[in-house]
Amino acid sequence: MKRIGVLTSGGDSSGMNAAIRAVVRAGLEMGCEVYGFVQGYAGVLDRHYQVMESSSVSGILHRGGTILKSARCEEFKTDRGQKEGMKALEELGLDGLVVIGGDGSLRGANALLERGMNVVGVPATIDNDVWGTDMAIGVDTCLNTITWAIDIIKDTASSHERAFIIEVMGRESGYLAIMSSLSCGAEAAIIPEFPYDLEKIGSKLAERFKEGKTDSIILVAEGAASAYTIQRKLKNHIGFETRISVLGHIQRGGVTSVFDRTLASRMGVEAVNALIDGRSGNMIGLSKSKFAEIPFKEVLANKKGIQPKLIELSRTLGVIL
Ligand code: ADP
Ligand code: F6P
Repeated sequence: MKRIGVLTSGGDSSGMNAAIRAVVRAGLEMGCEVYGFVQGYAGVLDRHYQVMESSSVSGILHRGGTILKSARCEEFKTDRGQKEGMKALEELGLDGLVVIGGDGSLRGANALLERGMNVVGVPATIDNDVWGTDMAIGVDTCLNTITWAIDIIKDTASSHERAFIIEVMGRESGYLAIMSSLSCGAEAAIIPEFPYDLEKIGSKLAERFKEGKTDSIILVAEGAASAYTIQRKLKNHIGFETRISVLGHIQRGGVTSVFDRTLASRMGVEAVNALIDGRSGNMIGLSKSKFAEIPFKEVLANKKGIQPKLIELSRTLGVIL
């Protein structure tokens, strides 16, 4: 293994920089040249890369976003795009590649694997919807940001005796909504994985309000419904003022949490170790505090979903689901 590449792809998540830094520093330490592709698979197709030095990754450990930039590249989903990508990597004499990204990016990594490239994946997405790892890079930072924002909103909610409907990210996953309902003590969580009953949510909220609770927080994952729809439909059921907050892209960037910095550093080094030792076609996953290499095939064939235990826990703690 003499020359390895690294790229970040899909929606950015905080900790991608820490992962790039780990791949570059570990790669150099093991005597490799490291090429950083700019804007994910688009950078591979365009041969847009930079040769990474140790100094290229100085001062980025804590920074959100990705110095290599990220992109969604439709062309890479096609047979022609993947052939072209493979040709580019071969022309550059690449012996291996580390792909940092979510489920879609790992599908791209698997496509390159099937065409003969040595590839290792590192899961990074705020959605935490990648099967085979308890946590993806960026989830913890994101949850801290959501919790920070909702703590602030709760001051206003209780001062004005209002219910706030807060929309969080998660096009297909309710993980952020359900976890932040726990970390914020929210009244309800509406998630795509679970049918919701607004009549039930509304009447329970009205009941709690009558009992003297002065504020209510309802978390909505964007993939389940829009906060505006929920507000309109809930109006008739709760009988007190509601307001909306769509947190949007405040959730993706920001200073990387300690958990994500260490997770990303460890996964990045594990990925390089795997390539150096000749193991490819796997994603680095964290399971029960241990790192494991999980074949792309398994990762991509399974859907993570929300653990039934988490649903049970939320209900026990009073979250209406
Ligand atoms: P994420 O990696 O965060 O899930 P996306 O689903 O948007 O984000 O995927 C990121 C990029 O990965 C896509 O723009 C595309 O370049 C590549 N990709 C996604 N799905 C596939 C696929 N089935 N085959 C090849 N490449 C893919
Ligand atoms: O994949 C992460 C994610 O944050 C989703 O939860 C969200 O729906 C999506 O990316 C939004 O991405 P963008 O605004 O970049 O299109």
